Amino acid sequence: MGFLLTILLALLASVLGGLYLLGAFRWCRPGEPPLDRGPIPWLGHVLEFRRDTAKFLERMKRKHGDIFTVQLGGFYFTFLMDPLSFGTIVKEARTKLDFRKFAQNLVQKVFGYHSDHRFPQMSSNKHLMGDGLVVMTQAMMSNLQNLMLHSVGTGDNNHMPWKEDGLFNYSYNIVFRAGYLALFGNETPKSTESMEKAREVDRVESQELFLEFRKYDQLFPNLAYGVLPPAEKREAERLKRLFWNMLSVQKVKTKENISVWVRDQQQEREEHGMEDFMQDRYMFLLLWASQGNTGPAAFWLLFYLMKHPDAMRAVQGEVEEVLKETGQDVKHEGPFINLTQDMLQKTPILDSAVEETLRLTSAPVLTRAVLQDMSLKMADGNEYRIREGDRVALFPYTAVQMDPEVHPDPLTYKYDRFLTAEGGKKTDFYKGGKKIKYYNMPWGAGITMCPGRFFATNELKQFVFLMLTYFDFELKNPDEKIPDIDTKRWGFGSMHPTRDIQFRYRLRF
Ligand code: HEM
Ligand SMILES: *[C@@H]1O[C@H](CO)[C@@H](O)[C@H](O)[C@H]1NC(C)=O
Ligand SMILES: *[C@@H]1O[C@H](CO)[C@@H](O)[C@H](O)[C@H]1NC(C)=O
Repeated sequence: MGFLLTILLALLASVLGGLYLLGAFRWCRPGEPPLDRGPIPWLGHVLEFRRDTAKFLERMKRKHGDIFTVQLGGFYFTFLMDPLSFGTIVKEARTKLDFRKFAQNLVQKVFGYHSDHRFPQMSSNKHLMGDGLVVMTQAMMSNLQNLMLHSVGTGDNNHMPWKEDGLFNYSYNIVFRAGYLALFGNETPKSTESMEKAREVDRVESQELFLEFRKYDQLFPNLAYGVLPPAEKREAERLKRLFWNMLSVQKVKTKENISVWVRDQQQEREEHGMEDFMQDRYMFLLLWASQGNTGPAAFWLLFYLMKHPDAMRAVQGEVEEVLKETGQDVKHEGPFINLTQDMLQKTPILDSAVEETLRLTSAPVLTRAVLQDMSLKMADGNEYRIREGDRVALFPYTAVQMDPEVHPDPLTYKYDRFLTAEGGKKTDFYKGGKKIKYYNMPWGAGITMCPGRFFATNELKQFVFLMLTYFDFELKNPDEKIPDIDTKRWGFGSMHPTRDIQFRYRLRF
């Protein structure tokens, strides 16, 4: 009898222990945000979250209000949905909230990159501003011209043929390839004997890279959630290896015009004795961070402009004005226009059109690991206790970018939403009568805010500039509806459409 009891007690203990591990005994303690553990032990809400993050968080917000804790795959995430309180998280000290811990897991899973050394993260990112930015912007221009205009002058002047393509496919393709070449360098004419040949190698090689990247891109959400079926998992492995090869340090070193941003990060790792194979993996990580978002954003920007003739006219007028000011003229067989960083500073309308595009289509989840018990003070004065080991997260898309109080009629594209009456940059937005600092967060905020945002903005503007000056283009179906957003990608940055939109374009000169 005593023996049986021992076994029963042991059994009970292990069941309780299992349930404990699965999170069944976590209760909301006084002073903590409302807790919603979800329908499945341990997994919690992760299935619904993965299916449509925005919809799930809207539902939770309706149910619990501006702050709540949900269980997602073994972790407790506290979401803060009141943008007036964002500052408390964005500016919290690194000793309490850490970004790195959360990101490292993902990076290892998705890119195979890990490092024991903590690199001073921001040292290389200074090259994405100031002088480095000027050089990269120039390189971007030169590569955009190679990809978009290499056939200029080869057709009969008056009979440039129309070409058809998917707008998403086309925009992503051009911006990805030009951005890649601007950052990772060009084929040198030395190895190919002529400049023309080198430029052709750039076109061919970048196209190959793009096609493979798109395959990886499509697997990405499920890869990040760790739910790829076996065949796709093998495909992801194959692609990863292919990128490590295509972007290997040895290969990149043979290039010309490598950006300082890429070169510095590579050198830094080399000097710290990082092995080559790990450096190669890092190159892939840089490719992903720098090229995964701008192409899709370029699609939305061009599409919204095409759907809104008043916006298109306003931007067109500004582009022509800037060109005229610098005395440039686009002519058949004339020199290519040169668009400098300086000129790109003089386009408030286009800036607003870009910001509005990102408000509607950039939707990152910003996550921090909680390193010690802490309290979160909300703008309304309420204070909540947050436990060590949990996560806190923001989803600004739902919390602010789609808030009708901050951005009236939030689903509508208004190209001048971020323009003041005087035509400058508008930064005054209000909620509950209070001026709000974080009114649009496509780049994240605080210490992890996208360091490439200035370059990305320049890329988008250069692409639109060239399209408007060199091409006629139109939607195949002028009544085309705005495509839905692919809900599987919420949380990862720039959103994709669920389908492509056919358009036609031809060189004007
Ligand atoms: C429209 C285009 C882009 C969007 C919407 C975008 C958005 C973002 C977001 C939301 C983050 C994470 C912020 C956070 O977790 O708080 C991020 C990180 C990052 N982005 Fe971008 N990005 C874009 C283009 C670029 C470009 C062109 C580059 C490089 C030239 C770049 C380099 C990076 C890097 C290196 C990080 C990691 C920063 C860190 O961990 O400290 N991004 N980006
Ligand atoms: C390097 O960049 C400059 C200016 O950005 C460009 O003129 C030159 O053609 C590039 N070199 C190669 C090999 O493409
Ligand atoms: C995508 O774009 C590439 C290059 O612009 C083109 O060769 C390809 O046919 C396009 N694919 C689709 C599905 O439109």
